[in-house]
Amino acid sequence: MHTFFVSIFALFAATALATPTPIAHILARDVPESIANATALGINVYGHIPDDAVKIGEGSYTAEVGTLAHAWIRAQIDIDWTSTAAQDEAKIAKRELAHIGIGMWTQDWCNGNNVWHDDVQYNVHHISDLNMYSVGISYRGIRDNEHLDFSKFKGSDHCGQYAYSAGQLTPIGCFNSQAINCFRLWY
Ligand SMILES: *[C@@H]1O[C@H](CO)[C@@H](O)[C@H](O)[C@H]1NC(C)=O
Repeated sequence: MHTFFVSIFALFAATALATPTPIAHILARDVPESIANATALGINVYGHIPDDAVKIGEGSYTAEVGTLAHAWIRAQIDIDWTSTAAQDEAKIAKRELAHIGIGMWTQDWCNGNNVWHDDVQYNVHHISDLNMYSVGISYRGIRDNEHLDFSKFKGSDHCGQYAYSAGQLTPIGCFNSQAINCFRLWY
């Protein structure tokens, strides 16, 4: 809603000042960078994950920097899935939207290598051998009856040491984290 107002305002401002800024340029600035990046690579971010994703389990993937899947995954956490335009695009691509998607990245702000779980089930430990330093959430935020716990290695157990829990009602998007190797969603 906020970006919508900004773009409309920019449109009026542009008109009032009679500056010849093309409308397409004004609107393009509202597209999150990750979506613009993926789209520039020819990826339909509303469609299925690209084929170069490495499947590590049912609905779970990992993708190296520079792959199409990597760009697709990054874009997922910036898509506003509450918009009917996004939902319509998914329908056209015959994609069924999952319950909640959660990924972990090796670097801050959801950069670097990653693991992506497209349809996170309750009470499952989702693990990473690599230390992960940021977390991205897609499709919907954490509900007030849900808990998202993070933990790290203790000995050979990825989830052996509890680290922290995401805040109540954590919204979709990316946040940085202390080193983690495991998460679990429960209620
Ligand atoms: C978009 O692409 C540019 C150029 O490759 C890169 O520097 C930037 O980090 C990308 N943005 C996101 C959000 O992935």
